[in-house]
Amino acid sequence: MDLTAYVNENRQRYLDELVAFLRIPSISSRAENRSAVVEAAEFLQTEMETQGLTAEVLPTAGHPVVYGEWLGAGPDRPTVLLYGHYDVQPVDPLELWHSPPFEPTVREGCLYARGAVDDKGQVWLHLKAFEAWQQAGGPPVNVKMIFEGEEEIGSENLGPFLERERERLSADAVVVSDSPMFEKGLPSICYGLRGLAYLQVDVEGPSVDLHSGSFGGAVNNPANALAHLIARLKDEKGKVLVPGFYERVRRLSARERREVRRLPFNRKAWLASAGSPPRDWGEKEFHVLERIWARPTLDVNGLWGGYQGEGAKTIIPSKAGAKISMRLVPDQTPEEIERKFTAYVRKIAPKDVKVTVRSLHGGAAFLCPTDAPEFEAAERALERAFGHKPVLVREGGSIPFTATIQKALRVPVVLMGFGLPDENSHAPNERLDLENYHRGILAAAYLLEELAKPRPAAKSKRPSRRARRR
Ligand code: BES
Ligand code: MN
Ligand code: MN
Repeated sequence: MDLTAYVNENRQRYLDELVAFLRIPSISSRAENRSAVVEAAEFLQTEMETQGLTAEVLPTAGHPVVYGEWLGAGPDRPTVLLYGHYDVQPVDPLELWHSPPFEPTVREGCLYARGAVDDKGQVWLHLKAFEAWQQAGGPPVNVKMIFEGEEEIGSENLGPFLERERERLSADAVVVSDSPMFEKGLPSICYGLRGLAYLQVDVEGPSVDLHSGSFGGAVNNPANALAHLIARLKDEKGKVLVPGFYERVRRLSARERREVRRLPFNRKAWLASAGSPPRDWGEKEFHVLERIWARPTLDVNGLWGGYQGEGAKTIIPSKAGAKISMRLVPDQTPEEIERKFTAYVRKIAPKDVKVTVRSLHGGAAFLCPTDAPEFEAAERALERAFGHKPVLVREGGSIPFTATIQKALRVPVVLMGFGLPDENSHAPNERLDLENYHRGILAAAYLLEELAKPRPAAKSKRPSRRARRR
């Protein structure tokens, strides 16, 4: 059975199946969608079992983890652990979608649906690659798969889960498909992600909204106080003012810097993908890509307080608040940054309002040395599937699993993503390019073959698989 031919012949069915998976509204952040989240987990379990994996839906304190394994290649063959997430982001604003988010629709070679690229499409393509191998008598490596349902809400229960299940998750390499390619036609291997520290700041003033004529000027206004506070977190040029914020920031190596400048970065296209702001913004001394990939930052993600309705209402609001996240880079840690942020906010908070800071979630930045043979295997697989040598990139987004599993297993973590930068993940009209979906299945299938090739002994600094297992 020829793998490539099989994948080519089943193109339509692969699309139909993904459509069925995307119909399930597995929004992890909404309590109303809880049963849909479980349904998506069970959908995956059923598929894994159909493909001959032993699969379970494992409970956590939140949404379940789907775990499956097929160890048919035998103990002398490498084991690969595949990761993805089956939960999706909320869909609002609904009115901006051209077709309903959970009624997947094909237009101009793309499949439109919430979760199409982030991350259900990229989960499904690995299952289809595995299926193709099963038709050919089974892949030459052992395969474990872990798909979580809380990635979009911070993977809070994943750390304890990985701790508990560490033994059974042991593998020689981890592969994640949950990131974009640098551009269409240019396959990409991502070796670094930013981390995240996400906090909420609440400011309370008078116990009720006050008439701003009767009291304005004589009581502190929580909304004004919050605005002052936020203004002191980051300057106009993009420098974060939290003391010690940059203390552990690791600079790009000279080589990485050269590599960044060699990438086909198109400023115009990038500006368009960013919603057409007049120009790029931020730390001018760093390339735009370096700012996104390797510089930490702080952003207000939500801001409220006072009157939001039609027309005017003259009040001093009783409360105001903000959601603030900081994207982190190696070797910053979410714990240390949260501590520094909280201490600073306490210090600058005006005394006549009550300011509280609480942490919502966090995740460490991820960085993986690229000299492992598994990176070369991914390179070969991608080149075979896309007809182009992949580029090495970092990304600015976060996937808490990557750093956690790297620390737990101490094996290479290879991010081989098949999205595109403009596919609207987290936004209305999320889509997946169907050619990338198809080539992604091929690349995932070839990867299982390339990972089975013997590792060049001299190049590997890590102890052998056998030695590590002891
Ligand atoms: N797939 C993304 C992460 C991503 C985004 C990787 C862009 C590479 C480029 C993931 O689903 C995501 O959205 N992560 C959240 C994590 C957070 C909720 C902890 C993020 O980055 O905001
Ligand atoms: Mn994702
Ligand atoms: Mn996401």
